[in-house]
Amino acid sequence: MAIPFFKKKEPSAPSQAPSVLPVHVGIIMDGNGRWAKKRGLPRKAGHREGAQTFRKITRYCSEIGIKYLTVYAFSTENWKRPEDEVGALMGLFKSYLEEALSDFKDDDIVVRFIGDKSGFSPELRALMEENEQSSKDRDGMVLNIAMNYGSRDEIVRAVRNICADVKSGRVEQSAIDEALVSDYLYTAGQPDPDLIIRPSGEYRISNFLLWQSAYTEFVIMNKLWPDFQKADLDEALRIYAQRNRRYGGV
Ligand code: FPP
Repeated sequence: MAIPFFKKKEPSAPSQAPSVLPVHVGIIMDGNGRWAKKRGLPRKAGHREGAQTFRKITRYCSEIGIKYLTVYAFSTENWKRPEDEVGALMGLFKSYLEEALSDFKDDDIVVRFIGDKSGFSPELRALMEENEQSSKDRDGMVLNIAMNYGSRDEIVRAVRNICADVKSGRVEQSAIDEALVSDYLYTAGQPDPDLIIRPSGEYRISNFLLWQSAYTEFVIMNKLWPDFQKADLDEALRIYAQRNRRYGGV
C-alpha cells in the first residue's frame, strides 16, 4: 500500500525522499557490533551510536510523512548475548525511555512497544507504559519499538489467545480468518509494513514481523546501522518507489 507524499512539517534539510512513500516502514537496526569492532571498541559503544541513529532516523521518518515506523531493538533471542552487552542495552533503553523519547513529543510521535514486556525489569516496564500512555493521544507517526520481540512468539501468543476466546465463546471458530489473526498480533489495527530495510548487508528476516511481511518489499543496504544516514533512508525509499508490487497478481 502506498500513499502520495504527504509532508507533515518542513524538514530541517531538503528531503530527497521520493514522491511515493510507504505507509509503514520496518527497520532491522543491525550492525552495531561490527561498527564497534571495526574501531576496536566494545560492542556496547556500537549500541550507543546505534541509539543516536535510531533517534535521528525516527525523527526524519516523521518529518517526511511516514505514518508507521517499526524498529527492531531487541529480539527474544538477544537474551543469549553476554551479560554485559545485555546490561548495556537495558541501560540504553532506560535512558532513552527517560530522556530521548520525550523529544518525540515535538514531533507528535505515538510511541508503542511490541513484544513481551514481562521480560523486562519493573522499572523499565513502568517507563514503557508511561511512554505509551503519555503519547497515545498524539496524532503523528506511530513508532513501534520491538523489544523482547519475536515474531514466532507473537504468533504463538495469538494462537493461544484465539483458542481461549473460542473456548469462552467470544469468537466463533468459523470466524477465524486472516484479518482475525492479524487482530491478535501486537500490530493489531495497523497496516502491514510496505518496506523493511535491513542495513549491514545481511539477507535475513531474523524473526521480525513474519506474518505481517507476507507482501513487504525488502531493501538490504550495505551500511552498518550506526553509519546509516538520512540519505540512506532516502535511497531505500527511492528503491521502494521503483518496485512493482503485485501481491501475487499480475
Ligand atoms: C543488532 O546489531 C542490534 C541490536 C541487537 C540492538 C539494537 C539497539 C539499538 C540500536 C539501541 C537503540 C534502541 C533504542 C530503542 C533506544 P548487532 O549487535 O547484532 O550487530 P552485529 O551484527 O554487527 O554484531
